[in-house]
Amino acid sequence: MPDTSRRKFFALTGLALAGVAAAGCSSSGMPWSGGEDVALDRAVDGARTLVAYFSLPLTDDPNGMNEDEANSTHVVDGQVLGNTQFVAQLIQARLGADIFRIETVEPLPLDFGVLEQQALREQESGARPELKALIPNLADYDAVFIGYPIYWYDMPMPVYTFLEKHDFGGKAVIPFTTHGGSRLSGTVEIIADKLANSTVVSDAFTISRDDMNDAESEVRSWLAGMV
Ligand SMILES: Cc1cc2nc3c(=O)[nH]c(=O)nc-3n(C[C@H](O)[C@H](O)[C@H](O)COP(=O)(O)O)c2cc1C
Repeated sequence: MPDTSRRKFFALTGLALAGVAAAGCSSSGMPWSGGEDVALDRAVDGARTLVAYFSLPLTDDPNGMNEDEANSTHVVDGQVLGNTQFVAQLIQARLGADIFRIETVEPLPLDFGVLEQQALREQESGARPELKALIPNLADYDAVFIGYPIYWYDMPMPVYTFLEKHDFGGKAVIPFTTHGGSRLSGTVEIIADKLANSTVVSDAFTISRDDMNDAESEVRSWLAGMV
């Protein structure tokens, strides 16, 4: 992750820089793992495609949100969605794909400050929080979009659990993120390292939580540009 992104995110949130491990680097220039054209054709056709995502809207009440709650949500027709959830639903609708939400057995705190500290502790200890469910029919899919918010310049730990509990071998894996300034934050490379037998798409999608009103057109352009 470029230093500028890190500074921007922390300037915006007021979070402390102390104790933050440097994680990852820019995603540009990562080679494909191979077979990308065929895999992407299948993905963009929407056939046998799954959109899996982790997202944590800090409230479900569209009225009277505080700043942290507003930062973590996008309201559509009065319904509160997490930012990543919203992007996942856009991809799902565009492709006619299936959708799967990554959820932990233990509910995560909805107070930003508490969540922030728990997420940091989990990251530092390499935690693998238990998930409520795994994809029951993974063999039905050739392509899996995987979406997550950037937490502490990295994927949330439940997404690590998700990656490690499934075998994505032979499938196209297409990451997407929402963020507060850190963009992809090196996470595409981490996924490519972990899923060496998959085609991990380097042209991942990322959008700032401040640009959610542009998400629909940006998702459409991104999907159109993938093949
Ligand atoms: C615990 C926590 C840590 C975060 N760390 C970062 C970060 O390092 N860089 C960044 O750009 N945004 C960071 N954010 C902001 C989220 O990535 C951003 O708000 C995202 O859109 C939330 O997605 P969601 O609504 O789908 O959960 C963090 C948010 C939380 C809750």
